[in-house]
Amino acid sequence: RSLEKKITPLNVLHVHGVPLLIPSKEMWDKIYNFQARPDDLIVATYPKSGTTWMQEILDMIQNDGDEEKYRQVATFDRHPVIEVAFPHKEKPDLEIALEIPSPRILKTHLPSHLIPPSIWKQNCKIIYVARNAKDCLVSYYHFHRMTSLLADPQSWEDFCEKFMSGKVAYGSWYDHVKGWWDAKDKHQILYLFYEDIKKNPKCEIYKVLDFLEKTLSEDIINKIIHHTSFEVMSKNPMTNQTAVPSNIFDHTISKFLRKGMPGDWKNYFTVAMNEKFDEHYEKKMAGATLPFCTEI
Ligand code: A3P
Repeated sequence: RSLEKKITPLNVLHVHGVPLLIPSKEMWDKIYNFQARPDDLIVATYPKSGTTWMQEILDMIQNDGDEEKYRQVATFDRHPVIEVAFPHKEKPDLEIALEIPSPRILKTHLPSHLIPPSIWKQNCKIIYVARNAKDCLVSYYHFHRMTSLLADPQSWEDFCEKFMSGKVAYGSWYDHVKGWWDAKDKHQILYLFYEDIKKNPKCEIYKVLDFLEKTLSEDIINKIIHHTSFEVMSKNPMTNQTAVPSNIFDHTISKFLRKGMPGDWKNYFTVAMNEKFDEHYEKKMAGATLPFCTEI
């Protein structure tokens, strides 16, 4: 480890007030002008909402449940993130995306109002996964601890404040989930919840199949559920992100697939913190019809 290059956290650029991990205005212009293809499938999330999980489910669906196909390629390397240039890769993911044959699966954490317009214009299908704020916050805190891509989270209390005020990469969780919720009525967006997938993966996989206009046998669906369970994914080196260099993700600090359990926030929130969070949440989410649950 000591011989590995030290990585400095990614630069933050404020785009329309949203802190994004983008090194320059030029890079943002390229991202915004990204040319989508009509058969691109986009996985959109606020960070730590189950992106990797959905990516794995989609790969399995696209390949009719054949997990062998991906034995050699890590999830991280299969689906370019539209807006990120990782320091350990030779080129920005945006350029890698150009070389991938259709149908592509692309990933993004951008809020809906910053999505490259070509994605809307091409009417690409988008699957958005939302996760309750409290678990998302806990997961994001641990992710900040273990990745050199993001700045040190400081204390848990400090990080809570930053999350609540939207001063973290990709900005406000509240605006993100609401923005995409509103967008779903105007575009081809399937809006799913992390907790629902955990509670009843079969039901949510059927929704995905419907949305993709695809059918699979019950046997294959059961196979997909097994292969994408937390237990299996956390042991699979292609999905647990241990293939990412350890100077980027340090799994000795915290695992990428850490708990995978709704309700883990209860181990972190004090009573006082919870009251403050709930009060702030009510204000931020006033009028929103989003049906979140914080435990199952
Ligand atoms: P925790 O830190 O709470 O464990 P993302 O992929 O968007 O970065 O999200 C990562 C979060 O999703 C982590 O949450 C991770 O454990 C969880 N996750 C990944 N795969 C999962 C699965 N198969 N089942 C449940 N949770 C999963």
